[in-house]
Amino acid sequence: MRQFLQNITRRKSGTALLADYELDDSIQGTKLVRTLRLKDLVSFGIAAIIGAGIFSTIGNASAAGGPGVSLLFIFTAIACGFSALCYAQFASSIPVSGSAYTYAYASFGELVAWIIGWDLLMEYAIGNIAVAISWSDYFTALLQGLGMGIPEYLTMDFLSASRGFAEATELMAQGQALTDLPAYLQEAYLAWLNAPTLGSLRLVADIPALGITFLITYLVYIGIKESKRTANLLVLLKLIVILLVIVVGAFYVNPDNWSPFAPNGISGILKGVSAVFFAYIGFDAISTTAEECENPQRDLPRAMILALIICTTLYVILALILTGMVPYYELAVGDPLAFVFSRVDMDMMAGIVAVSAIVAMASVLLVFQYGQPRIWMSMSRDGLLPKIFSSIHPKYKTPWFATIVTGFVVAIPALFMNLTEVTDLTSIGTLFAFVLVCGGILVMEEKQKEMAVVHKGFRVPYINAKYALPPVLGIVVTLILVYSPETLSTLLSTEGGWEEFQHKLPLLGFIIVAAIMLVLSIQRNLSLIPVLGLLTNLYLMTELGITNWSRFLGWLVLGLILYFAYGYRNSKLGRHKL
Ligand code: ALA
Repeated sequence: MRQFLQNITRRKSGTALLADYELDDSIQGTKLVRTLRLKDLVSFGIAAIIGAGIFSTIGNASAAGGPGVSLLFIFTAIACGFSALCYAQFASSIPVSGSAYTYAYASFGELVAWIIGWDLLMEYAIGNIAVAISWSDYFTALLQGLGMGIPEYLTMDFLSASRGFAEATELMAQGQALTDLPAYLQEAYLAWLNAPTLGSLRLVADIPALGITFLITYLVYIGIKESKRTANLLVLLKLIVILLVIVVGAFYVNPDNWSPFAPNGISGILKGVSAVFFAYIGFDAISTTAEECENPQRDLPRAMILALIICTTLYVILALILTGMVPYYELAVGDPLAFVFSRVDMDMMAGIVAVSAIVAMASVLLVFQYGQPRIWMSMSRDGLLPKIFSSIHPKYKTPWFATIVTGFVVAIPALFMNLTEVTDLTSIGTLFAFVLVCGGILVMEEKQKEMAVVHKGFRVPYINAKYALPPVLGIVVTLILVYSPETLSTLLSTEGGWEEFQHKLPLLGFIIVAAIMLVLSIQRNLSLIPVLGLLTNLYLMTELGITNWSRFLGWLVLGLILYFAYGYRNSKLGRHKL
């Protein structure tokens, strides 16, 4: 048993991490040079952040929460800000361009590292399914605008079509005309109705999403990497188009649409958690440039926070503009930024937005489609995945096998999966990675205290959680008791049996973790920012519902099975002591 515990917590040393870095260099034939400055890093962050979230999933979030969703953008940015600082500390103290996987291998040991690596598949590959689906929404809207309509059943996922058809049929049975229904229901109805059939199966699939994924995978396979210059141009394009939507849209805002501000209450706003969080994913990618920064200690944390501030400002204003231009409930479409302009008869503007969205989202696809095979490559080098995942193409110098697998893992589900479902999975998985990264900083700080090591590089500003956490939690609990006194009784009520109770499990679990963190903070003088990062991200996870939790836990269990079936025995650390 002791041996087993030692095995699953074996940690990779800094020397071993650096040796891998050297290997990376010799394989890719590129000596990384320290050229990136603050503005490059911010630009890199914005390149990864602004994508499907703001061009697409903000639509459903606004339709559920109304203008109040803008507040959710602020809360989520704060949670991300805490994690950003923790990422920055890792990036500056473990100076290799790893992801959370590498950090976990050094701080928590092998099992947690594997879990994070497995979990990052949700951020990168599953996240890209969402981006591919959103890309397809804009692409088809653009073709339609140009008079080249593609049948709906070739541009929509199976689940949305079947659910939308059922909902539309019910509304029509109640006397509503098809043309009076929201656009997304009309599309789903037509897709289902006109789809060719194979036996009793309706052939509805998102072909453009499949197409763009294969195209981008091919580019990654032959070694295309966005150059600094194209990345900067793309960022400029994204910013210009968002500013254009804000400036032009402002003229069409009808303030009456902002009232009520939260038409479906707090619960309506919180329905948008995964969509809103999804829009921020990507700032963590800045930490992967640690070896290429002129001054990583100073610039990495600044860049992450600056990128977050810029995006939050744009997102909050954009949410207000969209919900001000049209009644919030009309925004449940896949291309809301273009949709609002067609709705006010500005087709030209809708076209410009759609073209920019297509380019912008393709670049996000490229970033993540490039990143995923490289995480697998590191895991394979460590022996946690079969060797072929780190096999390098002789001509293109890319991890060819891992790239192809990524292509299929993204393209096939993109054919039939629903945008909301993939966004939820991506968000819960990424939030979990953030929770672990914040936890990792706490573990690392404890180790350093024990070993009396002086921390070098950037360190999350230390505030003793012993003094700050009790008042923070006290204020939160008081606010809840004052503004929503029924919360406590609802949480503890057993009415409705297991059916009802299971939905409360994530929140109850969160309360237990918060209590444990409070005790630990007082006992061990923990650092406040990682503690708050851990708690805020965990809280956002609780809002994602029991279905997503079950899927997520199922995913982790599958990961554990694979680890014990393969990685545990083949781990390089297990074979040679590194
Ligand atoms: N934040 C990235 C996007 O919205 C993942 O596409």
